[in-house]
Amino acid sequence: MDGNGRWATQRNKYRTSGHKAGVESVRKTIRQSSKLGIKWLTLFAFSSENWSRPQKEVSMLMELFTRALKKEVPELHENGVRLNFIGDLSRFSDGLQKRMNKVAALTHNNDKMVLTIAVNYGGRWDILQAAKKMVQALDDDNVSSKEINEDLFSRYLSMNEAPNPDLLIRTGGEMRISNFLLWQMAYSELYFTSTLWPDFDEESLNQAIESYHQRERRFGKTPKQVKENKQC
Ligand code: FPP
Repeated sequence: MDGNGRWATQRNKYRTSGHKAGVESVRKTIRQSSKLGIKWLTLFAFSSENWSRPQKEVSMLMELFTRALKKEVPELHENGVRLNFIGDLSRFSDGLQKRMNKVAALTHNNDKMVLTIAVNYGGRWDILQAAKKMVQALDDDNVSSKEINEDLFSRYLSMNEAPNPDLLIRTGGEMRISNFLLWQMAYSELYFTSTLWPDFDEESLNQAIESYHQRERRFGKTPKQVKENKQC
């Protein structure tokens, strides 16, 4: 969700008002995703690198996040959305950690859509924490390292229950992954748009999905093989 700061600067406003406007785009995106039948939506709200922003901006983001959780959760819960949080949550205040855990527990059995919010998240952090957990588990169960394969390893990643993402959307014009779901995105389709996040709306999401539908996902196979598979 990139471009909040630039959106605000273009309007001679403080960067923080761009983040506030960004919450409305979050709302629109969740509603439209639900309408489109998207089962898994993951939002990168705060990266491990974002702590290095000015203290005022970081505090404001924490406040905004806390407020949004309070305000939006009842409607999300009513609409069958399950909320998950991924990232190193231990760096957040006790209050915010408690709130995230409470929301995750409250919505745990909802099955219309899984909304994952990545906070203090980094793809490299995720891979490292998975490696540490896996080594510990192998050690505890006396299992040989010969048993390690992709399937076993991915069980220790943050999004272990989720399918790998079909589509990554990045707003704000930058064309990079910025340490998002590095392992999980090996075969994801990438969609970059110059639209700034606060301007991202239902139509923008529709366009991204439309672009996704034009792609041919081959997973290393030839176009002919893909065609034959589709016919089966
Ligand atoms: C990146 O834009 C955006 C962020 C670091 C914060 C994203 C937060 C929100 C959209 C609001 C809260 C989220 C939830 C889930 C309630 P930027 O500041 O890097 O923009 P710039 O590149 O134009 O400076």
